[in-house]
Amino acid sequence: MARHERFRLAGVMGWPIMHSRSPRLHNRWLEIYGVEGVYVPLAIEPGNLQAALRALAPLRFSGVNLTIPHKEAALAHVDRIEPAARAIGAINCVVVEPDGSLTGHNFDSFGFIASLREAEPEWRADAGPAVVIGAGGGARAIVHGLIEQGAREVRIVNRTLERAGELRNAFGPAVTPVEWSRRAQALEGAAMLVNATSLGMVGQGALDLPLRALPRHALVADIVYAPLETGLLAEARARGNKAVDGLGMLIHQARPAFKAWFGVLPDVTPAIRAMMESTV
Ligand SMILES: NC(=O)c1ccc[n+]([C@@H]2O[C@H](COP(=O)([O-])OP(=O)(O)OC[C@H]3O[C@@H](n4cnc5c(N)ncnc54)[C@H](OP(=O)(O)O)[C@@H]3O)[C@@H](O)[C@H]2O)c1
Repeated sequence: MARHERFRLAGVMGWPIMHSRSPRLHNRWLEIYGVEGVYVPLAIEPGNLQAALRALAPLRFSGVNLTIPHKEAALAHVDRIEPAARAIGAINCVVVEPDGSLTGHNFDSFGFIASLREAEPEWRADAGPAVVIGAGGGARAIVHGLIEQGAREVRIVNRTLERAGELRNAFGPAVTPVEWSRRAQALEGAAMLVNATSLGMVGQGALDLPLRALPRHALVADIVYAPLETGLLAEARARGNKAVDGLGMLIHQARPAFKAWFGVLPDVTPAIRAMMESTV
């Protein structure tokens, strides 16, 4: 095989895109595993998504990640949609198949569940009710992951109640929509709590959620990763709850994507985690 044919290309399409931490992660793994290639940020305006995706095969890209605002729109522009992506209603990874066709995946659920298991190997989805705050794209991936892992009760608290209702329609009777005003009471008897809103993120408001009713044995996760230690996680740790930050989800969702493009399932080592922490 000629040298240029072995050089692998992948990237992340978004608008804006320069904030993405994915290039650092994938390029470091390419170095570690000795894969000749590069992972680049691709600034793609919303109106150009279809043309950009259709250019991947002729450009000999192995695939791309998708981020804001392309995750949902991409459903209309791939040839095949994997079941998790269909259930979540969004694509975060596109793989260019040998025949040039495009397959859409979503590895956010995988990343979230893997990050929980990394922090708490004994974690079980059926240990008790889960409370998810938020009903946006991140929440959909989390609810899909929890139910797939056997969760029997997922209480979804969202400012806009109808969006929580949409998750019940999508994921079935294990989902109970809860009004925002009842968020504190929703924590009673919960085995886990997940913040899947953008509250607590740098530049956003704080998540106003009294934890009094949350059992001390409940696992608390936040998918916000900037800052790494959100107000919710700090408060949870201070009262004795085990807490899981959002960076693990971001790192773990990248593993199956790297495998699909480059043929190696990369490890999440302390050095990789430290490198990514330094970017937050
Ligand atoms: N760690 C990871 O790998 C990972 C992956 C995906 C997302 N994330 C992070 O997760 C967060 C959410 O992302 P997303 O894609 O799910 O966003 P999204 O689809 O826009 O959803 C945002 C959610 O936050 C809620 N929200 C926003 N402002 C609020 C406020 N002032 N009061 C109450 N609720 C509010 C929204 O409620 P309404 O429905 O009422 O608007 C909605 O439930 C972001 O910080 C993102 O960076 C992390």
